[in-house]
Amino acid sequence: MRVAVISAEAVPYSKTGGLGDVAGALPKALKAVGIDSVLITPCYLQTKGEYLWNTAIEDLNVDWRGGVYPAKAFYSEANGSPTFLIDAPSYFHRDSIYGYTEDHERFAFFNHAALVLLKRIGAAPEILHLNDWHCGFAAVELAEKRRWDPFWRNTRSVFSIHNMAYQGGFSNSELWKFGFSSDFARGAFSFNGFASAMKAGLEVSDMLSTVSRRYAMEIQTVENGYGLDWLTRQRANRLIGITNGVDYEVWNPATDPELASHFSIDDMAGKQACKRDLLEAFSLPVEMNRPIIANITRLTAQKGIDLMMQIAGEIVHAGAYVISLGSGEKKYEDFWQSLRDYAPRQVGVYRGYSEPLAHRIEAGADMFMMPSKFEPCGLNQMYSLRYGTVPIVRAVGGLDDTVQNWDAVNGTGNGFKFGPYRADRFLEKIYEALFAYGDPDTWSAIQRNGMSQDNSWENAARKYVDLYRWTLD
Ligand code: ADP
Ligand code: GLC
Repeated sequence: MRVAVISAEAVPYSKTGGLGDVAGALPKALKAVGIDSVLITPCYLQTKGEYLWNTAIEDLNVDWRGGVYPAKAFYSEANGSPTFLIDAPSYFHRDSIYGYTEDHERFAFFNHAALVLLKRIGAAPEILHLNDWHCGFAAVELAEKRRWDPFWRNTRSVFSIHNMAYQGGFSNSELWKFGFSSDFARGAFSFNGFASAMKAGLEVSDMLSTVSRRYAMEIQTVENGYGLDWLTRQRANRLIGITNGVDYEVWNPATDPELASHFSIDDMAGKQACKRDLLEAFSLPVEMNRPIIANITRLTAQKGIDLMMQIAGEIVHAGAYVISLGSGEKKYEDFWQSLRDYAPRQVGVYRGYSEPLAHRIEAGADMFMMPSKFEPCGLNQMYSLRYGTVPIVRAVGGLDDTVQNWDAVNGTGNGFKFGPYRADRFLEKIYEALFAYGDPDTWSAIQRNGMSQDNSWENAARKYVDLYRWTLD
């Protein structure tokens, strides 16, 4: 079976969040279970030159907006599987990966160029695996082309929803510019008087998936469907949830090159060295018996920063260290800065994006808080589990699927989990965690339960293969 995975970001070429981790790792995982896959992603200004192994296509002439866009395609296997990176400087050589008013045009181009590339290399995939709104355009183009172009006749599409909150909306009046003028295409994009790339992908793809089982149900509700719950309900018999995996070659405390010391479930001594290293990195006094509660995230409302704001003072008064790595909305950045100013001997803040620091925090912290408002899957709680850093999460989406609440009577559970989106419930769980931390045997039991949990990609990849087979049937 041949699969082409199309994604707006993929590690190590580009990443702003979990989509990058997933799209980078899935093709490698597919290869490991015997599936021939190719990844197609843009070449950004941020993509490091060392990953561009060679120029595969010098003249990828993409018919576009009535002319020809002279793009290039680089080839690489830096993520462990064959990858083509589409190089279109005016669209992708910019200061950031997203955030432009014409993002819809940038990804409409990318999708079209990806299909041009697949045809150029002469390998029609049986499965076109599309990710998030950025790939809604390819879903429609494929559905149309399949009717008259024999090259695409046997290709089926799988559309994965990583985050329903981002839908790629734009004006209907632009559709024709991107080659979508048929009634079919206009109908597919049309949503509340606008065009929505997410809606198009959901409507015309042959099969749908999302990144955890619980989120597959949540997006069928008004609360989490962001206006499209009627469509996910309508297509529920073609929608499944597959929980993301973790790339344990990248996230493994026994081998992670970013760490001051290595450790594993059988030898935890190195975790103490990582804790010391982390406190020093943030210029905090080294008091090894004080727990560190950490957070690494895009600073948006999705991640429950409002709850953190309400209880941060209590955490500090309880005596814990708090460490935050993230950037995003100004009000949240300001909050972290003011907390740091309030308790400079207990709070460490790094505003920005740093992959190496993310690894050091996962290793050195004792607890990881993730009180998300909604969370399609979430990767950091799974990284935390493997690094013996106990997650404190809200029971939503993938957080609910991957974290089990500690049960002191039976000795089961790998973290702390609360339900309602309320600061008092969150604080209760923080106190429970701090209490458990006070008893070394209890703490080590929780850590061991987490560290032994298998969230490897192998399981997830097999489920994708089943989904692909089901799609082809
Ligand atoms: P989302 O995709 O919604 O942002 P996930 O938990 O799925 O959430 O994935 C987030 C990924 O991005 C993780 O790999 C996390 O470590 C990383 N990340 C987020 N913010 C930062 C940051 N400021 N610096 C380094 N890595 C970050
Ligand atoms: C999205 C979601 C996150 C998920 C990631 C990868 O960005 O917000 O929960 O883990 O995609 O699927």
